[in-house]
Amino acid sequence: MGYFITFEGVEGCGKTTQIKLLSELLAARGIHAVLTREPGGCPIADKIRSILLDAENRALSPLTELMLYAAARSQHVTEVISPALEAGKIVLCDRFTDATLAYQSFGRGIDRGVIDTLNVQACQGVSPDLTILVDCDPQIGLARARQRIEATSGPREERFELEELAFHQRVRAGYQQLAVDQPERFLIIDGADTIEGIFATISTQVLARIPEALRAVC
Ligand SMILES: Nc1ncnc2c1ncn2[C@@H]1O[C@H](COP(=O)(O)OP(=O)(O)OP(=O)(O)O)[C@@H](O)[C@H]1O
Ligand SMILES: [Mg+2]
Repeated sequence: MGYFITFEGVEGCGKTTQIKLLSELLAARGIHAVLTREPGGCPIADKIRSILLDAENRALSPLTELMLYAAARSQHVTEVISPALEAGKIVLCDRFTDATLAYQSFGRGIDRGVIDTLNVQACQGVSPDLTILVDCDPQIGLARARQRIEATSGPREERFELEELAFHQRVRAGYQQLAVDQPERFLIIDGADTIEGIFATISTQVLARIPEALRAVC
């Protein structure tokens, strides 16, 4: 099996920035990791992503939202993540199961047991070896995310950015709780630091954790 790293945290904390930097660093060392994201990561799941992140879809009910995430994940695991891990690759995924717990359980209040059941079904035995939580005050993250949305062309993926601040604070607290519950899997990073400062910690920690055997096959 390969090595599975997920990036988590509130909107705009810096996940996509950091995962790209890590992917580039690994590539420079001859390690070609699979870089993917949720929701999405393959054509069918990308179609579900556009429903989930479209700010026009205000009527999406919490349970519909949860099931769409599960459907997208099931497809993504089947088509991309499982085959890559079975081929012995390192997989870097921008959001995964912890996001569903943080947003749909801590944020929306859906019963945790329902989410755990759907996650187990969708993941088919796959689970992250390491989860990097970029912990950040949602006010800082939202301000960054809004700047990025304004500067980017194409569809405005901002359904979650439009949620009230209290929702994002519950999501942040949820992530912190998940990290406390599984300290051996989580690495918590201070998202208020600079891009360079955050990356220095992530790169050191990841390079120390990737098993030696994997570096050889990648
Ligand atoms: N540590 C940082 N300090 C200042 N700006 C940052 C930092 N990290 C990222 N940014 C900037 O903030 C914006 C959001 O960053 P990024 O897209 O990486 O966040 P994200 O966590 O992936 O957001 P989302 O949850 O919306 O996908 C980008 O414009 C990025 O350049
Ligand atoms: Mg992102």
